[in-house]
Amino acid sequence: MRKKIVAGNWKMNKTLQDGMELAKTINRQVYDNNVIVVLCTPFIHLSDVAKVLSKDSLFLGAQNCASEASGAFTGEVSAEMIRSAGADYVIIGHSERRTYFKESDSILNKKVKLSLANNLIPIFCCGEVLAERQAGKHIQVVKDQVEKGLFDLSPEDFSRTVIAYEPVWAIGTGVNATAEQAQEMHKVIRDCIAGKYGNPIAENTSILYGGSCKPSNAKELFTNPDVDGGLIGGASLTASDFMGIVNAF
Ligand code: 13P
Repeated sequence: MRKKIVAGNWKMNKTLQDGMELAKTINRQVYDNNVIVVLCTPFIHLSDVAKVLSKDSLFLGAQNCASEASGAFTGEVSAEMIRSAGADYVIIGHSERRTYFKESDSILNKKVKLSLANNLIPIFCCGEVLAERQAGKHIQVVKDQVEKGLFDLSPEDFSRTVIAYEPVWAIGTGVNATAEQAQEMHKVIRDCIAGKYGNPIAENTSILYGGSCKPSNAKELFTNPDVDGGLIGGASLTASDFMGIVNAF
C-alpha cells in the first residue's frame, strides 16, 4: 500500500527560533498513525529541528539541494550535507526553483540522482502554469516534466521517489485545483508511471497535491483515489492549519 504523506514546505519563512517553536508544537501534536508528516525547513534550521522531532511518523526535509556532489560551488548545499543534518526528504523541482532560479529538467534530474545516492527521498514537483492549462497543454507539460526528471532512474530508484503535482496557478493564490482537476492529473501521472515502470510500482508511488491546500479543502482533495496527500505552503506555517490538513485523512 502506498504511503499517505503530508509535507510542509516552509519556503523562505521563519527565523530559526520561530521555526523551532513551530517544529516543537507539531511534534507534540502528531500522533503516530498511517500518515507520514514531513517538515521541509530552510537549510539552516535542519540540524536543530532534527533534534526536536521524536515521533516515528514525523520526518525532516530540505527544499532543494545542489546539482553537484561537492566542491567549489559557493553558497550551495549538497545532498550529502542535508542527509548529515538529519533529513530524510528533499523537495526537488519546485516551480519557484524552476521559474526564479531557472532550474532545467536536466539539472533537476541530477539533483534527484544525488538525493537518492545520499539516501534522501526526493519529493519531485511538477505542474503547469495557467497559460499552459488554458491552451490545453497541461497534461503534456506535466508528463514531460515527470519523464525528463525521473524516467531514466532504475525501477528500484524510482520506487523511492515521491511526486508532487502543484499547478503553478494554484500556488499561493488561494485558488486550489478542484478535486476533479487534481484527480485527473494524478491519474495521468500514475498511468504514465505504469507505462514506464509497470502497475505495481505505479500503484506504490505516492503522488501529493500542492497549491492552496487548507484544512477546509484538504478532505475533499485527499478522498480522490489517486491523491495520496499534500505538499503544503502557506498553511504549513501555523501548527493549527497544518495539523488540520494532516488530520483531514
Ligand atoms: P501554497 O500552499 O501556499 O499554495 O503553496 C504550495 C506550495 O508551493 C507547496 O510547495
